[in-house]
Amino acid sequence: MVSISEIRAHNATIKKLGSGLVAVFVGGTSGIGLSTAREFTRNATAPHIYLIGRNESQASQIITELRGINDSAQVSFIKTDVSLLKSVDEACQEIGKKEEKVNLLFMTPGVLTMQGRTETSEGLDRKLSLHYYARMRFVQDLLPQLNVAGSSGSLARVISVLGPGNEKKLVETDLDLKTNYSLSNAAGHAITMNSLSLIHFAATNPSVSFLHSNPGGVQTNAARELNPILKGITSLLFLLLKPFPTSSIGIVPLSESGERHTYAATTSLFSPKNQNVATTGADGEKGSGAYRLGFDTAPIDSKQSSSVLVKDYLANGVGKKVWEHTTDIFNKATGSEGK
Ligand SMILES: NC(=O)c1ccc[n+]([C@@H]2O[C@H](COP(=O)([O-])OP(=O)(O)OC[C@H]3O[C@@H](n4cnc5c(N)ncnc54)[C@H](OP(=O)(O)O)[C@@H]3O)[C@@H](O)[C@H]2O)c1
Repeated sequence: MVSISEIRAHNATIKKLGSGLVAVFVGGTSGIGLSTAREFTRNATAPHIYLIGRNESQASQIITELRGINDSAQVSFIKTDVSLLKSVDEACQEIGKKEEKVNLLFMTPGVLTMQGRTETSEGLDRKLSLHYYARMRFVQDLLPQLNVAGSSGSLARVISVLGPGNEKKLVETDLDLKTNYSLSNAAGHAITMNSLSLIHFAATNPSVSFLHSNPGGVQTNAARELNPILKGITSLLFLLLKPFPTSSIGIVPLSESGERHTYAATTSLFSPKNQNVATTGADGEKGSGAYRLGFDTAPIDSKQSSSVLVKDYLANGVGKKVWEHTTDIFNKATGSEGK
């Protein structure tokens, strides 16, 4: 576990990464995304912050707050429903018009819901799109700007916050779960496909690093779509678990989650070519540029069953199959594979 004192000491040095870092927070209007945007803004010099979400009134309060924390920060809000891949393309075009490089793409869009398959107008399940397809489309669309940052030796990092360590077997014949939908399959597919596709991106973009992070249990607004009874049970659970330290059960206070993810976003430990930290690659080798992190901000043990599953899937061509499926979905939804 990376200690919170180590994390705070590192975050205080972020200014050394230079002025004008560009950071895009997809899902930056609430929860872990907002908490991370706050810590990043506090510690960076003259950063350009993009918040992407739907809640405009919340966003305008956040913009005021972030400018109060750091008056050198430029903060913009892009209002859009990112469950639609065409909207993802439009948001990225807007960023691309203003920024030559992107240093950090931080993604937390999501919903906690007990609803079954709910299709968007592009024919994707909304939850699966927010947790997987839209995120990978953001990566695909912003790769040119991420590579500009990385190839000049600057910070160039992608973080998707979901659930590594909980990868599950895929229904390989129905990756978008048209007919095999269940809440458990939807969670498992989103998590496993995040891990596999981030590894795919790392293999083809050697100057950018790609992190899949499990935040642990963090009390946020994520339960807002649950019915009042489930919402009450969730709040009660967090209340009962509050006295336990982060290290014992994986419940992480919201502000600490922001600090931990700001560290993950900026530490040189998770740089693309670090040979000294366990990464997830074709054979689990070091230096692949892809990392799966636990709630403690440390790489997940390569002997854990989920890590073995990911390695097996890479060795048996399932990672390739998932990427081909994803490209196919991109084509159908938007008419293009992306850049
Ligand atoms: N909290 C936890 O304990 C926990 C544990 C494991 C995994 N996770 C995962 O971590 C991620 C972040 O969770 P969180 O707890 O920070 O959630 P949260 O507080 O509910 O934040 C979710 C963010 O996603 C955005 N969003 C949702 N639907 C959107 C849409 N259609 N278009 C654009 N933006 C949308 C929301 O913005 P708007 O409302 O402005 O649209 C909000 O900024 C989620 O994927 C969650 O599954 C969380």
